[in-house]
Amino acid sequence: FSCVQAEVREYLFKILVVGDLGTGKTSIIRRYVHNIFSSNYKSTIGVDFALKVIQWGPDWIVRLQLWDIAGQERFGNMTRVYYKEALGAIVVYDVTRPQTFEGVTKWKNDIDTKVALPDAWGGGQIPVILLANKSDLIQEGHGQHVNPTELDQFCQDNGFIKWFETSAKDNTNIEEAARHLITSILKLE
Ligand code: GTP
Ligand code: MG
Repeated sequence: FSCVQAEVREYLFKILVVGDLGTGKTSIIRRYVHNIFSSNYKSTIGVDFALKVIQWGPDWIVRLQLWDIAGQERFGNMTRVYYKEALGAIVVYDVTRPQTFEGVTKWKNDIDTKVALPDAWGGGQIPVILLANKSDLIQEGHGQHVNPTELDQFCQDNGFIKWFETSAKDNTNIEEAARHLITSILKLE
């Protein structure tokens, strides 16, 4: 009789969550990690951290270290420090405030100029997904649904791997978006 412990592989991925002020970065992370939502707004100062542990298939564990970067940091000079060694990123905008979509390309540029994949993984751009957040408010008559064709083109032109319409309030598409990003990172290895 012998008992062989199956080998469990563990990954640790550092993921950046960026986007303009109040777009819902902290809310998305709290929904994803703790399954809670609050409509009170407390702006993040500097950076916050959260850890999500995911059983990925029978013998893989993925630990996502989420870096919740304050929207106001785009005007600071700390992002280079925060971005160090990240393997993926999420850029968030608010579908009810078109000006936050203008922030998207600025955040993407900031990421592309300040962080790259490790040399062993080819050193290219880290995978980045785009979240069009607060989709629940569209149903209430605020903002507009994204135009899928336009946003597909935008992602292609700006090097996003994919976009998702999300709601931290209703818990829409957050798991799906995270899973897509993890899958993309695992493919790089
Ligand atoms: P900073 O830390 O200042 O950069 O903001 P943030 O991007 O972390 O935004 P935060 O998650 O704090 O959310 C800002 C406000 O939007 C809060 O009042 C949230 O309750 C609200 N909010 C976030 N996500 C959603 C959503 O999906 N739907 C609705 N209706 N409100 C949301
Ligand atoms: Mg925040």
